[in-house]
Amino acid sequence: MRKKIVPEPQLIFTKSSPGRVGCNPPKADTPEVNLAECLGQVREEFHFPEVSELDLLRHFTNLSQINYGIETGFYPLGSCTMKYNPKINERTAANPGFTHIHPMQPDATVPGALEVLAQVQEILCEVTGFDEITLQPLAGAHGELTCLMLIKAYHESRGEGDQRKVILVPDSAHGTNPASAAACGYSVRSIPTTAGGNTDLEALAANLGPDVAGLMLTNPSTLGLFEPNIEKICMMVHDIGGQVFCDGANMNAMVGTTRPGDHGFDCMHLNLHKTFSTPHGGGGPGCGAIGLKSHLEPFLPKPVVRRNASGVVELLRDRPQSIGRVSAFLGQFLMEVRALTYLLAHGKEGLPRISRFAVLNANYVKARLNGVLPAAHDRPCMHECVLTSQPYKQHGVRALDFSKRLIDYGIHPPTNYFPLIVPEAIMIEPTETESKETLDQFCDVMIQICKEAETTPEVLKSAPTSQIVGRLDEAQAVKQLDVAYRPWAKKKVAAGV
Ligand SMILES: Cc1ncc(COP(=O)(O)O)c(C=O)c1O
Repeated sequence: MRKKIVPEPQLIFTKSSPGRVGCNPPKADTPEVNLAECLGQVREEFHFPEVSELDLLRHFTNLSQINYGIETGFYPLGSCTMKYNPKINERTAANPGFTHIHPMQPDATVPGALEVLAQVQEILCEVTGFDEITLQPLAGAHGELTCLMLIKAYHESRGEGDQRKVILVPDSAHGTNPASAAACGYSVRSIPTTAGGNTDLEALAANLGPDVAGLMLTNPSTLGLFEPNIEKICMMVHDIGGQVFCDGANMNAMVGTTRPGDHGFDCMHLNLHKTFSTPHGGGGPGCGAIGLKSHLEPFLPKPVVRRNASGVVELLRDRPQSIGRVSAFLGQFLMEVRALTYLLAHGKEGLPRISRFAVLNANYVKARLNGVLPAAHDRPCMHECVLTSQPYKQHGVRALDFSKRLIDYGIHPPTNYFPLIVPEAIMIEPTETESKETLDQFCDVMIQICKEAETTPEVLKSAPTSQIVGRLDEAQAVKQLDVAYRPWAKKKVAAGV
């Protein structure tokens, strides 16, 4: 049975009453204009809710209170790095000097903004070990695609574009990797992972040939493991003339500690919206900044942000070999302001603490849950641990049931069933910003749920019971995404209009 803790929320439209208003603006002292006459045609039907100011305020305040976020509780959603982002970053991003500029202003009128971009690029070059950074890509997947476009342009410049048509992708990769390769016109060949959780070198060798344009390797992998053979793998791919891309979405495990540019990679993407301060998720702004070695530099998206010999930051547009723009302007500018604040606030000394605590916290959770939820791989993990609820399948309990039950204990679920190669995967990324007390509370709850799974599995199967909705039909939500309220449209359909 569903237990309601708050009244079922109504849509604001259902609270609407004709003629009710939220405010009384003064009468306009400018002449009225007939929009239809000016524009030729305007919509006649508007379906704005008509509510009072108080109703409106209550409606959205109540909605906000049934929401869950990092500011309400622990958010161990694996591979998402849902860490706390200090408020100072938001304060600097809200500075009117940044928010009131326009992307189409002449370069000479925005030297401060260009300086921000250049500084972020320079610090990220130092952090990643790459020669160049561009901040144009607007998401991690967009950064992947941009790197593949650079790789393609590189092969084409050497007359090998027609020959190199294949991108190799390990079977543990995030789904965006093969999708980006396909979007870039490549065919994808999957490389298996060994029982130990590493890239299968024999399978890799068997797949390397003159048709291979490159390899996309995630490090640390989506199994939360550091790939011990990176240097060897990079050499193997380079030996056949291929390029190696690093999916660096998991940079939180490495920042300030080790640099992918030193491991042999040719290019990588970073999720600034995971590691460097903007909250991840919710469809908000993202930045899939990419780093690259100098041989890929001629193909950089343009305009290129570059500090000249006199220290002045310029936008270089005359770039004949560039792949062109990958975003309308220079990326999500306010994200770069947040990232710069974050990078400078931590400084050289502080950045390594991020990765050390991220890795420590994940290993702590893994060790505390070891007796009840075994790790998919029995070795130290990086920023996240991948556990399996396989032992509880005999009680009819699946990984998803663990996650749903966690909601009843007031904790956001971890990621389930990813990576695909781990049966009943429960992927936990605690991040560095959580205290030992929070981690202990989470582990205590998980241990309690494991007991319930053995003794009262039906409790897990019917969870969550504490929320205004129980289990949602997630498959239908994906297949029939319709988030608009349009009863008038339904009425029209019913009336055959
Ligand atoms: C390993 C990995 N690669 C790529 C991505 C794609 O990033 P985005 O969601 O910003 O496109 C993610 C997303 O979290 C990821 O975890």
